[in-house]
Amino acid sequence: MTEEAVIAKKEPFAVDVVAGETYYWCKCGRSANQPFCDGSHQGTKFEPLAFTAEKSETVYLCGCKRTGNEPFCDGTHNSL
Ligand code: FES
Ligand code: FES
Repeated sequence: MTEEAVIAKKEPFAVDVVAGETYYWCKCGRSANQPFCDGSHQGTKFEPLAFTAEKSETVYLCGCKRTGNEPFCDGTHNSL
């Protein structure tokens, strides 16, 4: 069965991350707490992607869930 991620938003989410903190990027697109996982992937084939911030900065996390550079936006949303 083919299951596609929901396009949460055709834009990245700008997030201020803190060095050393781990974040769980929603990969399925179903979370109500974008761009982070809220557990709504249960029952789908998707799992969140955990990543740890290397430094405190603003990052742009993919909202369309079609990026080739998870969890970051790579501009793929422009062609959706
Ligand atoms: Fe989307 Fe968990 S809610 S990966
Ligand atoms: Fe997904 Fe930009 S928001 S690639």
